[in-house]
Amino acid sequence: MAAGRKMRVAILISGRGSNMVALLEAARDPAYPAEIALVLSNRPDAAGLARAAEAGIPTQIIDHTAYPDRASFDAALDAELRAASVELVCLAGFMRILTPGFVAGWAGRMLNIHPSLLPLFKGTHTHRQALDAGVRLHGCTVHFVVPELDAGPIVAQAAIPVRQGDDPDSLADRVIVQERRLYPAVLALVAGARARLEGDRVVIAEPAPEGVLFSL
Ligand code: GRF
Repeated sequence: MAAGRKMRVAILISGRGSNMVALLEAARDPAYPAEIALVLSNRPDAAGLARAAEAGIPTQIIDHTAYPDRASFDAALDAELRAASVELVCLAGFMRILTPGFVAGWAGRMLNIHPSLLPLFKGTHTHRQALDAGVRLHGCTVHFVVPELDAGPIVAQAAIPVRQGDDPDSLADRVIVQERRLYPAVLALVAGARARLEGDRVVIAEPAPEGVLFSL
């Protein structure tokens, strides 16, 4: 990417959008390598839409209930993203399974954040899953999206200790803090071409220091 040109990013949400807000805030820095061109929700009632609009970001609703099947919804989504000249898609609490065809069209150009240390605890209720498994470390992962749910090359992870007395809510409260740090950092790496896909692995320009819980 030419120096100074920002990568055009769309953020896809379904709900509260606190990761989205973290990305919007990071992208306000003139030196940040990405600009948020569009926030798109599949749910008209997603609270994050108002927060994006307040920040002056174009928003779009594509209500999945108005489409007969996943393929037609994904086709509409794809058309919107392309019409907005989007180069990279960030899923941020986007609660729809995407078709393999859509994912293939955005291969290497779509990121997701998941509230666990993948490949542990895919799917939903990740904090409950972590407690049930008795792990001492939990956290979040940003990865490239592949057709398989919550799989795909991992860019970076952030971890938190699991404490005595933790419940799913207390874990969620601490993991989301790390999510809001991790996602903007990862988007900066990917948009700034400091993280790139090599086959099914991500190569990052700068090595992570030893022994840190927050690791890029
Ligand atoms: C986050 O925990 C994210 O990892 C998961 O859904 C939640 C969305 O939160 N996929 P928010 O909408 O970004 O506040």
